[in-house]
Amino acid sequence: MRAVVVPSPGGPEALTIADRPDPEPGEGEVVVDVAATAVNRADLLQRQGFYPPPPGASDVLGLECSGTIRALGPGVEGWSVGDEVCALLAGGGYAEQVLVPAGQLMHVPEGVPLTTAAALPEVACTVWSNVFMVARLRPEETLLVHGGAGGIGTFAIQLAAAWGARVFATAGSEDKLELCRTLGATRAISYRDVVASGIPLWVEVPQEAGGADVVLDNMGAKYLAPNVSALAAQGRLVVIGMQGGAKAELDLGALMRKRGAVIATTLRARPPAEKAAICRAVEEHVWPLVASGAVRPVVGAELALEDVAKAHALVEDGSHTGKVLLTVGR
Ligand SMILES: NC(=O)c1ccc[n+]([C@@H]2O[C@H](COP(=O)([O-])OP(=O)(O)OC[C@H]3O[C@@H](n4cnc5c(N)ncnc54)[C@H](OP(=O)(O)O)[C@@H]3O)[C@@H](O)[C@H]2O)c1
Repeated sequence: MRAVVVPSPGGPEALTIADRPDPEPGEGEVVVDVAATAVNRADLLQRQGFYPPPPGASDVLGLECSGTIRALGPGVEGWSVGDEVCALLAGGGYAEQVLVPAGQLMHVPEGVPLTTAAALPEVACTVWSNVFMVARLRPEETLLVHGGAGGIGTFAIQLAAAWGARVFATAGSEDKLELCRTLGATRAISYRDVVASGIPLWVEVPQEAGGADVVLDNMGAKYLAPNVSALAAQGRLVVIGMQGGAKAELDLGALMRKRGAVIATTLRARPPAEKAAICRAVEEHVWPLVASGAVRPVVGAELALEDVAKAHALVEDGSHTGKVLLTVGR
């Protein structure tokens, strides 16, 4: 089979299509013929040599896919050869075939084309596990989501709005702010705007509205202090990205006065049983909203696997919206 590997770390040109042996399913695993995969920021870091795959995971890039089950390993129940699926992966999605622990398979939500379903596993599992399972957003609460026009952001806005929550979202340009509003954000705020007192507008807006009960953060260190300022009493800040660095000072006094919480998680490093539990919860709680059209996958670009370098360059320069898909032809 053909697969995308990185013989030596570097820019998008380091991505190489190589021949690899077809995978054989072990106990509890299936092999999926990949229809499409999607580019994640973690893939860019892995390509640059900064984010090695977890022990035992494939060195082929790709954290999610959609496709058709080709073969079942021993002990797999509830799935058949030929089933259309999407899946959360620890790696290996940028390939014609991928090994998947059966617990990380999900049905394709009704009405979603097979290729488009590759846009769903990472965003649905990340947003559901963090905003709903960990931070327990309630319908009457307020969510502040950074990067509202990106893959995670477009999904988080829709899911929280469908849940009944008020959503504030940040983005970097007028067209992206408009996208956030279209998806259900009550207020879309440029992350470039600063008010007269010197604080970011995205801190002032939630503060004036009573504070954000939950913040979903992609920036890490750079936003730690202002995110705490934006929190409501008993607010929960969930950090899922480090686009603004990993190390910052936390004013515990400010956090204590709000009786607040700072939580940081990564999906990829979770053990398979936790990933499987998240996948089941997503099928139960999120897929009905996707099937009804209340939440839709937002695909900003779709390229062929052969154009993987272009796809990485697109995500790297930040001009995309939603997810960037790679389709796998045979
Ligand atoms: N921990 C986990 O398990 C997990 C899982 C998946 C993703 N993630 C992380 O979540 C983050 C978002 O992922 P994604 O797939 O949505 O990536 P993406 O589609 O590339 O989106 C990145 C977002 O960052 C925004 N951004 C850039 N500079 C910003 C700033 N100064 N303030 C606020 N936002 C800014 C961009 O906004 P504009 O386009 O408007 O400039 C864009 O929406 C990434 O850091 C990714 O690594 C974590």
